[in-house]
This record gives sequence, C-alpha cells and structure tokens, in this order.
Amino acid sequence: MANYHLEASWRPVEGSFGRFSFALFNLSDEPLTGFTLTYTSLTRVADEHVAEGAVLKRRVANLHEYSPPDGLTLRPGGCWQFAVEGLANGPKHVTAGIKSAYLTLADGRHVPVSFGDLMLDGAERGDLPELLPRGEVIEPFSLLPWPLSLSMRPDEVPPVALYPADGSRPEDIKAVAKVLALYQRLFPADNMPFTLQPVQGGRPIHFKVESSIMPAAYELRFTSQEIILATDDEAGRFYGLISLAQLLHGARREAEIFQFPVFGDIADQPRYAWRGCHLDVSRQFYPVADIERLIDILAWNKLNIFHWHLTDDEAWRLEIKAYPELTDIGAKRGPDEVLVPQLGDGAEPRSGYYTQDDARRIVAHAAALHVDVLPEIDIPGHSAAALLSLPQLVDGQEAPDSYRSVQGYPNNALNPAIDFTYEFLGKVFDEVAALFPFEYLHIGGDEVAHGSWLASPACKALMQKEKLAGTAELQSYFMRRIKSMLAERGKKLAGWNEVSHGGGVDRDGTLLMAWEKPEVGIELATEGYDIVMTPGQAYYLDMAQAEGWGEPGASWAGFTPPEKTYAYEAEGELPAELRDRMRGIQACIWGENFVSRAYFNRLVFPRLSAVAEAAWTPTLRKDWLRFAAIVRMWPKL
Ligand code: ACM
Repeated sequence: MANYHLEASWRPVEGSFGRFSFALFNLSDEPLTGFTLTYTSLTRVADEHVAEGAVLKRRVANLHEYSPPDGLTLRPGGCWQFAVEGLANGPKHVTAGIKSAYLTLADGRHVPVSFGDLMLDGAERGDLPELLPRGEVIEPFSLLPWPLSLSMRPDEVPPVALYPADGSRPEDIKAVAKVLALYQRLFPADNMPFTLQPVQGGRPIHFKVESSIMPAAYELRFTSQEIILATDDEAGRFYGLISLAQLLHGARREAEIFQFPVFGDIADQPRYAWRGCHLDVSRQFYPVADIERLIDILAWNKLNIFHWHLTDDEAWRLEIKAYPELTDIGAKRGPDEVLVPQLGDGAEPRSGYYTQDDARRIVAHAAALHVDVLPEIDIPGHSAAALLSLPQLVDGQEAPDSYRSVQGYPNNALNPAIDFTYEFLGKVFDEVAALFPFEYLHIGGDEVAHGSWLASPACKALMQKEKLAGTAELQSYFMRRIKSMLAERGKKLAGWNEVSHGGGVDRDGTLLMAWEKPEVGIELATEGYDIVMTPGQAYYLDMAQAEGWGEPGASWAGFTPPEKTYAYEAEGELPAELRDRMRGIQACIWGENFVSRAYFNRLVFPRLSAVAEAAWTPTLRKDWLRFAAIVRMWPKL
C-alpha cells in the first residue's frame, strides 16, 4: 500500500467539458507539507482553466503537476481536496481518469500515490451489455477465420494426432514441426495436434503440390484413412496445417460442440493479401517475448502483417547506432528525465527499447510464421521524443510553444527546412532498411498539427523559396523528399492517410492507411493511392466496446462492440472500379489505455480475431454466432 492515495471524480457541466475533482489522502504517519502532486490523465486541463484549492504548476501532454495552497499541511489521515474546470476534452469512460500519480516532496524525492477509478457524478453510468454471446454453430468445425468453402462429415472421435505420411519431404516434416511448436507455445497445457512419426489412432497427412492452387491457398481432403493437404506454396501449406491444428483444438476442448472431419474437403484462400495488425510500443513498452507471442497469435488467426509502431511523442523504441541518444534519452520517462512521465508512469523512471538484435530476432520469428514486419518511424509529427533527444533537430529561432498536437505536445514535428532533419532521417532509414526486409517502410505522416512550422523562420524562408502555401504544402514537400530517400534505399512508402494532404506524394509505390474514417479510403483510392482500410470506428482496438462509463477504452471514434468490428465491411462504399486499390484491412492497437495486460486482453480480444475473419473470409461466409462460439477458445496475450 502506498502512503498516499488520490481519488478523482468528474461531473458534466453545461457548455463545457465539465469539472474534475480530486481528493488526496495522507495515509502515512507523518504530516505532509511543501509538496507537489503529479498525475497523468487523458482528460487534460486546458491553458484557460480555473483551479479551486490548487495551482496547476505544469502540464506536458497528459502530465499535470499541482501545488497545494501555500502553507497547506496534510495531517496523518487528512485529505486535501481541489477541483478544476476548463478541460481540454471530456471523459466518456472510466479509463479517462488518473493513470499514474506521485508526490514530489520538499527534499526532491518522488513517492508513489495510489489511485482509484474515475467516478462519475451527476450523470447515469449506462449499462455494460454482454459483448460476446455464447454462440452457436451449424457445422461443428472450429475454424477461425472460416474457410472459403467446405463440405465435411464430422467424426465422433478425433484422431490422437496427425503426422506426415511416409515419404513426406523434409520441408513438409519441418512445416509440421513449425506449426506444432507454435501450438505448443500458444496452448502448452493441451494435447498436441501433430507428431512427426506415425502413432496408434493417428492419421497421416499426405502433402501434394498442385500448381492450380493460388498463392497462400490450400485444399484439405479428408478420409478416415488419411488427409491430403494440397498447396502450391509454403504459405498455403502453413495455413492448411493451422486449419488442421484448429480443427483438433476445438474437437478436444469442446467435444460436445466441435468435431474433427472424417470425410470431405476444404478449399480455402484469403480474401485480402494484406491482413494486418498494428501495435503501438511507444506509449507502453512490450518486451520481446510479448511481441513474439502477439505474432504467434496473429499467425494462429492467419494474419500476415505486423505493423510495428516504433516511435511516437512518448518514446523512441528502436536502437539506432548512429544516434544512441534516441534510446538513451528518448526511451526513458521519469520525474527527473528529459521525457516526463506519461500514461501510467509513476515515481520510478521507466524505459524500454528494442536493440537491433531484438528487431532481427522478431523479424525472423515473424518470417517463420509467414508474417511480414512493417516498421513505422512516425514523422514529421509525433516526434517529441526524437526532438527532445536530439535538440539539433529544432529550429532555434522557432517560438517554443507555437503549435500543439491533438495530444497536447508543443512543437512536436520534425522541421522540413532544417538540413539536419534529412541527414538524421537518412541514417535512420539506412539502419531501418537494413533491419527489416519488408518492401514497405511506414513513415507515419499523421496528425501534423494545424499551424505547424509557421513560426519557424527556416520554414518561412523555405515556403518562400519553394512557393509553399502553408503547413500541408510544407508537409507534402517533406514527404516527397522522404519518398525519394526511401526509394534510394529500395523501400516503398507506407503512411497514414494524411500523407495525401497538400498535394501528397507520387502514387506509384505508395500505400496509405485510411484511419480517420472510411470515406477517406474512397478519396485516397480515387486519387490513385493503394490503400489499407483501418478505420478507427471499426478497427481501432483501443476504442471502448460499449457506451457505458464503466467500459474501459478510448472514445474519439465512438464505441465499438466486437459484433460491430466483426460485421464491418471495409469495402463498403468503395466503387467496384477502385476495389483493386484496396490491398486489405488492419487492426490497430494504440497504447494509451493499455496500462495493464488485463486491459490489453479485455479490449484486443476478441476483436482482433474479428478483424482476422473479416480479412480472410468472404462477406457471405461470415457468421457472428459461429465466430462467438469458436473465438472463446482462441489465445490471448
Ligand atoms: C492515428 O491514429 N493517428 C494514425
């Protein structure tokens, strides 16, 4: 138990974002005086605010530091109350309250403060509906994503195990061993689906190469004597083996619902080539083992792209040998660090980054599971961590707080008029391109704040020289240079939808992710860009899953029950002639709210599998109740 505890509540106020009230309890045996209180919260206090019973000393994005009234001494057992009106945004869910808190004592020490949920005053909390029904299956097969077509008769008793038939090629045997190892990692307490040698009560798998089968597609033909797995590439063989493991998994876990086929066949292929999942590791850090497990989970769900969001305002998480400052300074947040605490950081500093060896290991782990890793270096916005680590990136003549990002960071964009910006990025891209073999490198491009750079004399001169009208055209100038820098390194440009602003970049070899809303995807495709659909309203897995106050999660895109994510059709209004531009769909996992594994699992699952099925299975084959029945047997982080 901490020696101090903070309670917070919020009440709506007509015509404003409401009133935030606090009570700090002194649970220690000593009087408390001469201190400040710091907390992090996604509900931020605006510059224009009124505080009663406290003074807001400092705010940096989500960090808020308050001083109590002069001379306040909090006796043991005592409580200090204060309140603020004039918020930058209004909370909609319990997770919009305190994410971490600490006191700074008169002698400079930082000590932990515990805290509770954000309480709601003066409004109904709303109910928390059931998010996942029990479900129901028409055909008793546990396959998720559901195949393109199947026609099978179930058996009462599943085989003891499946094994490569006599005469299988070494590469087939290795493929079985690989899926067996994946299964053992995901379900270490279950009986294994495969053995490498024949077993009593088992069934052999005969591997066949058939050139009529499409890339990543497979066919399974079942009889009581054997199983034929026909494919024309490694990915197809991998997905066929995953399907066999899934069938056995269900038939053993829930034998009264699911069975293994004794006769019939499956002919399957993915709906989209791009079946992605993004993870933000800047706001919260995930150790290598977690990343590998998430990739295992992607593979089990037949997702094939891991979009790794490695940098943001809150931290830079990838070792760059040319600039060790990026991780020495930019991957560490703490009360006395250059980067202040955010989003769950308390009195102790926290740090974490991936070495280049870690990155290579993760890329190899993913490649073995037919998952490509798309690295993201988020520029020019979302760059506070880089700018604070390498002050040479800043135009020294620019007014310090001349623009702010939506997350409340001042002057957080790399400056397109500074030569060092390009020298720096050139070296970063050299190293990133060498680490990640995937054809694309994602360079962000999202949420450059309105008015960015307009108070930078260097940018003003550049605008005049290049006849650029404002922030968007400066950004397009920057992006065009970035695009050719990537091309020089053999990489294509991937980015968020705002890369198209101000004139955008050459469409050829550019892939943009439509996140703000679905209509943006149609606009981009019309403009000639290849697109991946990742609309916040359906595929952002940090959004709350119901409207009620008690449901954790973000709210800017509304709330997204799993059934909505499942049913959503990203092709939606996309005119038929633009369908070829849409490469696929992607889930995004933003980290602001994921202060614990429990929150991660509560919000990411089962919606991640819902995106996976939408990415693989044709619309007419989707079935929410079947999905619900199967997905409860699927792994979490
Ligand atoms: C984003 O959500 N800023 C891409």
